[in-house]
Amino acid sequence: MVRHHGKRGSRLLRAQVKAEFWKGKRVFLTGHTGFKGGWLSLWLADMGAIVRGYSLLPPTDPSLFEVARIKSVVESIHGDIRNLSQISTAMTEFNPDIVIHMAAQPLVRFSYIDPIETYSTNVMGTLNVFEGARKCSNLRAIVNITTDKCYENKEWEWGYRESEPMGGHDPYSNSKGCAELLTSAYRNSFFNTKDGPYLSSGRAGNVIGGGDWAKDRLIPDILRAFEVSQPVVIRNPLATRPWQHVLEPLSGYLILAQHLYAEGHKFAEGWNFGPRDEDVEPVEWILNKMVNTWGEGASWELDKTPQPHEAKYLKLDISKAKTHMKWTPTWKLESTLQRIVSWHRAWLSGDNMQLYCLREIKDYMADMSH
Ligand SMILES: NC(=O)c1ccc[n+]([C@@H]2O[C@H](COP(=O)([O-])OP(=O)(O)OC[C@H]3O[C@@H](n4cnc5c(N)ncnc54)[C@H](O)[C@@H]3O)[C@@H](O)[C@H]2O)c1
Repeated sequence: MVRHHGKRGSRLLRAQVKAEFWKGKRVFLTGHTGFKGGWLSLWLADMGAIVRGYSLLPPTDPSLFEVARIKSVVESIHGDIRNLSQISTAMTEFNPDIVIHMAAQPLVRFSYIDPIETYSTNVMGTLNVFEGARKCSNLRAIVNITTDKCYENKEWEWGYRESEPMGGHDPYSNSKGCAELLTSAYRNSFFNTKDGPYLSSGRAGNVIGGGDWAKDRLIPDILRAFEVSQPVVIRNPLATRPWQHVLEPLSGYLILAQHLYAEGHKFAEGWNFGPRDEDVEPVEWILNKMVNTWGEGASWELDKTPQPHEAKYLKLDISKAKTHMKWTPTWKLESTLQRIVSWHRAWLSGDNMQLYCLREIKDYMADMSH
């Protein structure tokens, strides 16, 4: 639903996640035991979608999957995307209308330790999902989740546009660049018929939010240290990233799927979903805000040991999603950080985190429509 808002005589249009669209849709979601997949499972189920999740066991302990009881809202299948016959069968038996593929090995530092697992999951796993998709007779829309790191990083201050070359210095970024090339080859070769399915990809920024316990990610590292009143040890305080609350890219993926389903090929492309320019901040800025928001016991210090290469500067140009989908970011970075601290404190004090997440989703949807 596109809402109309009067503002000083002008009419602003903003895309909306349409609950009525998702009600009753059969959605096959890979990566539902992970951070983004857990949030998306709750959002989809809350709108009345019928979701089959397919993933390995949760990648962390604790995990959003356990903490927010994701298994109680979706059908959860434990499987490996590297196993072609298993993923194909899980997809064809379910007969989805929409596939959202986000299962991956998503960590840059781990990709230096195990490049084979990274490439086999992110490239061959994606290939297997596409092969499964070719056999699904009702399927109309596929959204493949890659990353802002898929672009060849030129260490410049401009945002990357969707038309820029794929690349990736480290195995993770590069595997996602490969997954993008695979997406365009499959779109051109197999998903090019008039009736679909239509294949697109979503490239988001650095996603943050409550419920992430991944290793070597800034927010989880910060919270783990603050919990025990230890200084968080930081590798690259000057690295600048396009930070965004997890519900921001998820809203982009959902709106993209709505368009793909209704309008097809026009939207079967790559799409950036990043934050506002002013929310692209260095790690140091995030640290200082988190220290102030958390309060007593919070501090950070610099890790001076040699570190593997990580890009210094990374930003996404979101003009395309703004212009063609009317998708824009909703929450500002500062309030996102406050939300993360509140979420984490609620978890520490034993709140019902499924309800807590659902309330956050409701707030987000309300704020999107203002
Ligand atoms: N978190 C971020 O900042 C960020 C930013 C941009 C893009 N992404 C992308 O978003 C997606 C989700 O990321 P996340 O942060 O939720 O990661 P996560 O590690 O929390 O979740 C990864 C999910 O993939 C599943 N998985 C991993 N290997 C698998 C395999 N071989 N077979 C089946 N399932 C497997 C895990 O079980 C888990 O469900 C990934 O594709 C990631 O690359 C994440």
